[in-house]
Amino acid sequence: MRISGTTAGEIAGSVRDLVASGELAPRAVLPPVRALAAELGVNRNTVALAYRRLVEAGVAETRGRGGTVIAAVPQLAREGVGVGGALIDLASGNPDPELLPDILAAARRGRYSQPLYGMPAVDAGLAEWACADFAEDIEQPFRTLVAHGAVDATERLLNAHLARGDVVAVEDPCFLASIGTLRLNGYRSAPVGVDGAGMRPDALRAALEEGARAVVCTPRAHNPTGASLTEERAADLRAILAGHPQVLVIEDDHFSAVSARPYHRITPSTTARWALVRSVSKFLGPDLRLALVAADTETTVRLEARLSAGTTWVSHLLQHIAHELLLDTAVHELHERAREAYARRSGRLVERLHAQGIEVPSRPDGLNVWVELDVDGRSVVDALAQRGWAVRPGHLFVRDPATHQGAIRVTSSTLSASQAEAFAAEFAAVLGDLRPANG
Ligand SMILES: Cc1ncc(COP(=O)(O)O)c(C=O)c1O
Repeated sequence: MRISGTTAGEIAGSVRDLVASGELAPRAVLPPVRALAAELGVNRNTVALAYRRLVEAGVAETRGRGGTVIAAVPQLAREGVGVGGALIDLASGNPDPELLPDILAAARRGRYSQPLYGMPAVDAGLAEWACADFAEDIEQPFRTLVAHGAVDATERLLNAHLARGDVVAVEDPCFLASIGTLRLNGYRSAPVGVDGAGMRPDALRAALEEGARAVVCTPRAHNPTGASLTEERAADLRAILAGHPQVLVIEDDHFSAVSARPYHRITPSTTARWALVRSVSKFLGPDLRLALVAADTETTVRLEARLSAGTTWVSHLLQHIAHELLLDTAVHELHERAREAYARRSGRLVERLHAQGIEVPSRPDGLNVWVELDVDGRSVVDALAQRGWAVRPGHLFVRDPATHQGAIRVTSSTLSASQAEAFAAEFAAVLGDLRPANG
């Protein structure tokens, strides 16, 4: 490897050239600062600055004592794993397909005429619906727009206001895609612990004191724990955030229409930059790739610059379908049934687990039940797989698996009564087998 240059810019540029030509592969360790400075005949600060620029640009990463290494594309855990295998899928985090409406039928209803470049980015009917829906929950002035799902919206919101290396407060454990978004974009995460009522106030306060510039919070049906903010907890979080009005607040209300819990807002009226994101993935279908976003004016202007009718707008066909479905009373009834079914299925699993002596929070909301364990979640996942069940190991969702006690996430969205019974019994047997071995 021949790094050259006498200024920080030249040295960083030379490393980038070597990465581009493949001479420096992902995870290759760069020479120690002192050694490279001696070799190039420059001050150590010059090399240190070059390395810092490479880290800021996402080309390299610092590994503490391991030095500075060329960054690799992160290996990310994703949702949806478990689909289509031989095991009974309690791993995927998916909604029940039976509880999603027929989107093709909706495409044919109403009036859709093919828009061309330059049309307004948001379907007028959908915008009107979204405005009325958001107005029930938001007292500040807001504007609405449409993004390609909640994950896309969150990434755009963070990119609109933050820079690489900035700290983002997120729940710990956390939704896998949020972990992925932070890692892919070079943000640092400040973990905020969660209990049965959502983000813990002390943990949020600590994350903000650590310098978090944004907070991403799931107000209900937190994935993976199923926690929803109580009114009191939301007020506590709001009071803490009121002391940090410059912090971007993103509320990811992903389960909205099918949540069994009310929405409690954490964004204080004094927060300058904020967004409430409502994906339709859980109640109209993940393939619509659509989320409605309400945000302050400056934030919408920044997002619109990249979601405009000339560039990457969300297809009006998808918006048309979403609007038709959201107006349809049969779909409202389906949502009513879905809300009851998801609550019943997770409640049933919780009950069966309790009957087996397995402790879990009693009323989770959403598609998943989170089980904290005193044994390694991975061993439990393997043992359950041997018995025909796919679940996800908890370490994927936590910030620091090394200090985390075991856990598993069980997707309950399609679980029948007999499956809940059988699963709980097998799970208890697995725990019984594993515990003596773990002392
Ligand atoms: C917390 C959370 N946010 C958002 C989503 C959905 O994101 P999207 O709208 O990108 O499908 C999910 C799906 O599992 C989720 O668990």
